[in-house]
Amino acid sequence: MKEFAPSGEGARIRVPGPPLSEGGGPAVSARPSPLAAGHFPSASCLALRVRNLTYSYPDGREALRGVHLEVASGETLGLIGPNGAGKSTLLLHLNGILRGEGTVEVFGRVVNDGSLREVRRLVGLLFEDPSDQLFMPTVFDDVAFGALNLGLSEAEARERTEAALRSVGMLEYADRPPQHLSLGQRKRVALATVLVLDCRLLALDDPTGGLDPAGREDFVRLFSSLPLTKIIATHDLDLAWGLCERVALMDGGQIVASGPARQVLCDEPLLRAHGLRLPRSVRAA
Ligand SMILES: Nc1ncnc2c1ncn2[C@@H]1O[C@H](COP(=O)(O)OP(=O)(O)O)[C@@H](O)[C@H]1O
Ligand SMILES: [Mg+2]
Repeated sequence: MKEFAPSGEGARIRVPGPPLSEGGGPAVSARPSPLAAGHFPSASCLALRVRNLTYSYPDGREALRGVHLEVASGETLGLIGPNGAGKSTLLLHLNGILRGEGTVEVFGRVVNDGSLREVRRLVGLLFEDPSDQLFMPTVFDDVAFGALNLGLSEAEARERTEAALRSVGMLEYADRPPQHLSLGQRKRVALATVLVLDCRLLALDDPTGGLDPAGREDFVRLFSSLPLTKIIATHDLDLAWGLCERVALMDGGQIVASGPARQVLCDEPLLRAHGLRLPRSVRAA
């Protein structure tokens, strides 16, 4: 695993082996963040700690092979890697949809049968395909479903639903059937179904996949405005460049490099070795 130094002193190669400190440290970024002041993740402010996570699908395909990852509270991490790297499989472990060997801890709670309900309140997972998340007759019902499941009264659920829809700019579509909306609009509604739960960690799987440039820009603006810990799985390196303080590069079911976005995303040989290319903004510079 290649671990980048957090400052401008260049890359350090680190021999793989648990436990890894995914420190990251201060990003070379203008964006304000809890890390920008030079704080490193400590056990007390970790949003996510994944230890030696291994998972094989029922057909025997080994999708995760000993993943170690830590994300600090308040951090925005880009989980980059080529198709088939294991990004989606890893995200599906964060709220216990999949359960592999190893440990996943969310804000100090180990994900297990006993903590599942609590963990699902803490982690909001946005699926790659919004149709997997939207199944009610109207946009409003889809978002309210989660609020009602939290045990809120009807009036509270309505208030939370409207607030979530407003925050993604979809309140005026509340009475529409989700399947009549564009992909970008369905993605926004799917995001509202997660935000209504008031989660602390937002995991987004390929959030801009399939969007046109304007839809993509809208999403970037929306994400940057959300004051949550975020993990964004993507092979869109321009998205990672624009939004993330730190990136972890995944390939073959493992994290193969990790460090400040401004370093990892400028390392052309590393990116090429894993089927990726420099972000456009780096090439243009
Ligand atoms: N439902 C599934 N059954 C069997 N193998 C799967 C399934 N979903 C994904 N895989 C395999 O697991 C590996 C990781 O896939 P995935 O997590 O989707 O990668 P990524 O999101 O990085 O593209 C790939 O080899 C993929 O073919
Ligand atoms: Mg995927």
